[in-house]
Parts: sequence; structure tokens; C-alpha cells
Amino acid sequence: MNIQFDDLNLRAGMVGEAHGLTPAEIRQHSPRALEALRGFQKISEAGDQGFPHLPFQAQSARDILRFAKQVRGSFDTLCLVGIGGSALGAWALDCGLRGPHPVQPAFSPRNPRLVILDNVDPAFTAAALDSMNPKKTFTVVIAKSGSTAETVASFLIVRDWMTAKLGRKARHRIAAVTTADKGDLHALAQAEGYPEFAIPKNVGGRFSVLSPVGMLPAALIGLDIRGILKGAAAVTHDSWQPDLEKNLALRGALLHYLVWTLKNKSIQVAFPYSNHLWGTAFWFRQLWAESLGKAKSRQGAEIHVGQTPVAALGATDQHSQVQLYVEGPNDKVFTFWAVEKSASSGKIPKAGLNLEAFDYLGGQTLAKLIDVERRSTAAALTETGRPNCTFTLRKLDPVHLGAFLQLLEFQTAFMGELLNIDAFDQAGVELGKHFTYGLMGRPGFDAFRERFQDYENRRK
Ligand code: PA5
Repeated sequence: MNIQFDDLNLRAGMVGEAHGLTPAEIRQHSPRALEALRGFQKISEAGDQGFPHLPFQAQSARDILRFAKQVRGSFDTLCLVGIGGSALGAWALDCGLRGPHPVQPAFSPRNPRLVILDNVDPAFTAAALDSMNPKKTFTVVIAKSGSTAETVASFLIVRDWMTAKLGRKARHRIAAVTTADKGDLHALAQAEGYPEFAIPKNVGGRFSVLSPVGMLPAALIGLDIRGILKGAAAVTHDSWQPDLEKNLALRGALLHYLVWTLKNKSIQVAFPYSNHLWGTAFWFRQLWAESLGKAKSRQGAEIHVGQTPVAALGATDQHSQVQLYVEGPNDKVFTFWAVEKSASSGKIPKAGLNLEAFDYLGGQTLAKLIDVERRSTAAALTETGRPNCTFTLRKLDPVHLGAFLQLLEFQTAFMGELLNIDAFDQAGVELGKHFTYGLMGRPGFDAFRERFQDYENRRK
């Protein structure tokens, strides 16, 4: 497994002192990185946060693979019902290893389509159901809390749709992933006899891709989950090293922290030059936003920190976003994601058309073109004083993708330590959720319906 992190363009020597880090600044703050490492190590060793342990949970992987072996071949569509951290990891893995949907190979029982119902847009849900055959669909419903309104509503629809065609046999085509022995989804799974896979209590949604939340759907669509976990295990080992040269997650966290706080880069653009990494960019967006956008410090002081993550796709977004990035406000740091060895070189034929815009490209490859485009964009940003850095994955296979996801999770956890916040809660999403419960008539939420009414009255 080989992932490189090139941070040279974050340095003052490349982008100037106003926007880049000086050797003195990095030297002065490096001890904080070690404190962050020790701080998070304590949290992990105490069992308060469990994502570092997930790659080593061999029994869970065995259970998932045994189950996948039993049911694979009996469906051509896997329907995942879940939202946020209960959906984005599976999308990142599917997109990363099989490509974005339009380019995936023909779907079959050996290579099932993955349909993710992570929204309650009725038109989308109806179209998704129309596109699936209930007799050839296996459904995985995922909710750590067991009660998320969007997931529960969509699952009631899917369950009804399956039962209408399959009767009581529908229960054999459904599995649930939720917290062990707790919550309403667990109660339903018990009552209806769905196989259940447990999310460890100490693993939060956005850090759960390597738990059954990501691994069960991945195994059911035929991805190599052992490879994914192997890469993640290797990165976990590196992420406990104090040496910043070896520990890319810690170095990434420190340098991003310094560029953000010393050079006022309040936006981070995650910029994969790979369509396969597009799902990972959206998974990362949630990880970074929900973990690091916080009102309070650990001690309860009001701080309102956060760095807004943006996903951009290279080279496509050079024709959409780069004008802003190069000439707009210098408030961003750019993290390119590159894949060194593409699965195909994309040879460009020599057509001999005697046309200047065409002939120079003949005989070269798309792999070279996309690489040159990324390096040219990095150079253009650097020349205009915009700090940027690059993660390069040697290739995109299960081992490298598992490693990269785990690296980004460690980087996020270390960043939480550097900021002195709890990166693992999400209190800010509760109020809107409670208004929704109140308005939809969930028992116990009347006060929120009334508060919403006051808000509506103020708008009049
Ligand atoms: O990261 C998180 O904790 C959240 O984004 C959750 O994953 C999301 O709200 C879904 O929660 P649940 O799995 O309980 O349905």
C-alpha cells in the first residue's frame, strides 16, 4: 500500500508568508501534533471512540462474509435504506471500486446494482422503486439510532413494496444494521426476524464505514472487504506513529490546522482527479463538516469553529470552479487527490487530421492528460498564492481505498484534538430534527411543534 502526501505548496516558500506556512511556524506548533496524537490515543484506548479498532474486528468480517455467501446470487439489486453516515460510506466504496453508476459493468446477480435511498424526495423514491424488481431485490436498512425519520419512512415504503409481492417471504430479503440490543429498528428486526448486524456503540455514523454499515453492503455487492480492512489496518498502524514523516494523518491534520487558523483558510476544497473518488469526496464532506463544525470547545466556551468542505472534480471543475479559486477570495486551501496508476491509460489515437488542436494529443494518453491537468492547476494556484497539497494513491483498489478512508478519519480525529472540540457529536442537527418530529406528530415533540408555530408567526 502506498499513499503519498505532498505538502510543499502549503509552505511560505511556495505561496508566500501571507498564505503559506513558514518553517518556524511549523516547528513552533509541531509539539501540538504530538499532544493531539496522545490525546486521541487516550480516547481510543479508553474505548470511547471505536473507529481505529474496526479494521481488526475479524469476527465481524467473517459474519458478514458468511452471510453474503448465503444470499449472494439471489438478487440483482441491493437497496440500501439509510442516510448520512449510514449511506455515504457504502457509496464511497461502490463508486471507488466499481466506478460511478453510469459506467459500472452490466448488473447481474453476480454484480448487483446498488440503489441508495438516502433521501425522502417522493419522485426519487418512486423512480427508484419502479427501477427495481421486488423479487430480485435485497434490502439493507441501516440506522445507528434506529429511529431516523427519513430512513424509517423510506423503509416502511420499501418493506410494504416487498411484502406486496413476496408476502411473508419478504422478511428473508431484508437485513438490518443498527446498534446492538437497542432502539426501534432493533425491535422491528427482532419481531420480523431480519438478520441483524451490530454497529459498535462507540462508533459514530460518519466514522462507521469500516463497520457493518459499510462492510455489509460492500460484501453484498461483491467488493473485497478483506482488502479494504487490510489497507485500513496498515494506516491505523501508521497513524499511531509520532513521526510526522510516517504519520500522514497527523501531518495532514497539523498543516491543515495551521493553514486554517494562521492563514485564515476557512474553506477546504477536496479536489479528486478521479471520477472513482467522487463518492469519497462526498463522504469526506460529511466527515469534515459534521465533525469539525462546532459551537463549543471541550470546556464549554463558545467558539463557533468550522472549515467548510467543498467537493470539486478534476479536470471537470477546471471549467466550472477554478476561475473562482484562482481569482476570488484567498480563503481556501485545496487538497488534490490523485491516483498514480489508472486501471486504463486511455490511449489517444493519432488521427493525422492536420488540425493543430487535435494532432498534438494523438499518441498520448488520458492518464497523462489528467495528471498534467492536475499538476498545472496546482501550479496555477501556487503561482497565485493559493495554498494546496496532494494525496496520491498508488492505485485505486480495495487496499488503497480502505487505507485512504481510514487516513481521512484519523486526520479528522486529530484535527478535533487540535481544535479542542468534540469531533464525535452533532448537537447542531438536533433542533431541525425535533421541529420535523413535532410537525410530523411524533409523540413527545409537541413543544417543538409549538415553537415552530411561534417561528412561523414571527415570519408573518
Ligand atoms: O455521522 C452521524 O452520526 C450522522 O450523520 C448519522 O450518520 C445520520 O444522522 C444517520 O443516523 P442514523 O444512522 O441513526 O440513521
